[in-house]
Amino acid sequence: MGKYHGQANSVLRPRTTEQVSEIVKYCAHRRIGIVPQGGNTGLVGGSISLQKEIVLSLGAMNNVRSFDPVSGILVADAGCILQSLSDYIAPHNHIMPLDLGAKGSCQIGGNISTNAGGLRLLRYGSLHGTVLGLEVVLPDGTILDQLSTLRKDNTGYDLKQLFIGGEGTLGIVTGVSILTPPAPQATNNIFLALPRFDNVLPLFQIVKRQLGEIMSAFEYIDRTAYDMGLTHGLGPLLDAEEVGDSECFILVETSGGNNEHDLEKLNHLLEHLLTADQPLINTGTLSQSPSQFNAIWAMREGLTECCQKEGKPYKYDVSVPLADFQKVVDAVRERMISKGLYGDHAISKVMGYGHVGDGNLHLNVIAKHGYRPELEAALEPFIYEVVASRKGSVSAEHGIGSMKTHALHYSKSDVSIEWMRKVKQVFDPLNIMNPGKVLP
Ligand code: FAD
Ligand code: MLT
Ligand code: ZN
Repeated sequence: MGKYHGQANSVLRPRTTEQVSEIVKYCAHRRIGIVPQGGNTGLVGGSISLQKEIVLSLGAMNNVRSFDPVSGILVADAGCILQSLSDYIAPHNHIMPLDLGAKGSCQIGGNISTNAGGLRLLRYGSLHGTVLGLEVVLPDGTILDQLSTLRKDNTGYDLKQLFIGGEGTLGIVTGVSILTPPAPQATNNIFLALPRFDNVLPLFQIVKRQLGEIMSAFEYIDRTAYDMGLTHGLGPLLDAEEVGDSECFILVETSGGNNEHDLEKLNHLLEHLLTADQPLINTGTLSQSPSQFNAIWAMREGLTECCQKEGKPYKYDVSVPLADFQKVVDAVRERMISKGLYGDHAISKVMGYGHVGDGNLHLNVIAKHGYRPELEAALEPFIYEVVASRKGSVSAEHGIGSMKTHALHYSKSDVSIEWMRKVKQVFDPLNIMNPGKVLP
């Protein structure tokens, strides 16, 4: 995004866990700060060196350690790129339990450290459930080997959970044991245009009821985001006339065991939606080929990159009640209009997309000619207050990094923050592990 500028003058690229341990011991002895870095795709400034801490890049630790095709348990170095792991297990008919637009660059260690959600969370749950074990180098250089491959292990405190979403502040993840699901026999998707945002919730209920266990994604794109996608060559996915003045779009994916059966369900769903007395959709399409399937996903996954092409994006990744998605986006647009900051001279677009099935809205505010302090001042803390007033979370899946340390209190009580500090103090009393991130 060009929003964060690291200060580091040294990057170390260890090849083994032992080398990571030696580096950390050396740094602990001299109180040198360390910023663990994976694929550097994080969106909250977590992997940058704020004050000349060294960067410890995991990219050279990229070996698969083992894969058991019977249990689906994969053990890998933290620096393996997510897409490479998917490619590795694909011939065994398994898939990674998470998928995100950054899959070609992000690393499994970075995914775990941010507790990345992404496009498959609805189906396979969070990494807090699918990660079975971790190997971590602690801030004094000790290697914590909890690389368990057990499905069940209730032997006291589950320490690994602290590193899942720990954003590198408690230690460096060097190895991962993760449960991978069998690849579905059939995947399909549909793309729907809705006349009004108010139809999203009833649609979600109908889709869940009709598709049942085969639904694997339910993603939201508002009109501004869709039009932006079209401008940048994503699509068209639907006939422009039939889309008319639709307010928003929904992508539904199914992953099932029988293509014929899944297609029957999807066709029936589409027919039901289009022929109802008061149709919830204006139009919709069911992908007819792998390339159309990919084109539908490209529209959703390509939005992040389009935002960058439009200007400089202020990105807010929030959890709010589903019914409030569009209200939050509209409130922000109205705020910028009332401040005289809406238009090509300042904020050119305010849009929402995201994982509606998980209650996760990505609110993107585009500053056409670049980041400016007065724009940020108009957006923050306003947005965090709006989210807090709806009992939401100021970070649904991207983490806190350096962007949201000052906003943590909108979603965490004083008591929670105090105990987070105590945990940090126990693991990292010298405060060398990713200092200045997560905790204010
Ligand atoms: P980095 O960006 O390198 O680091 C992220 C944080 O983790 C930093 O705090 C860093 O210090 C720490 N870290 C990295 N590796 C380690 C390690 N081995 N040990 C300890 N700490 C470590 N996120 C989602 O949740 N869902 C999405 O759908 C999603 N889609 C995205 C789409 C695009 C196009 C882009 C650019 C980003 C997207 N993201 C998404 C955000 C980002 O990709 C994820 O947060 C990803 O998991 C970060 O992985 P990374 O390897 O790039 O980590
Ligand atoms: C997404 O779901 O597309 C990602 O989280 C990235 C983004 O918020 O742009
Ligand atoms: Zn997302």
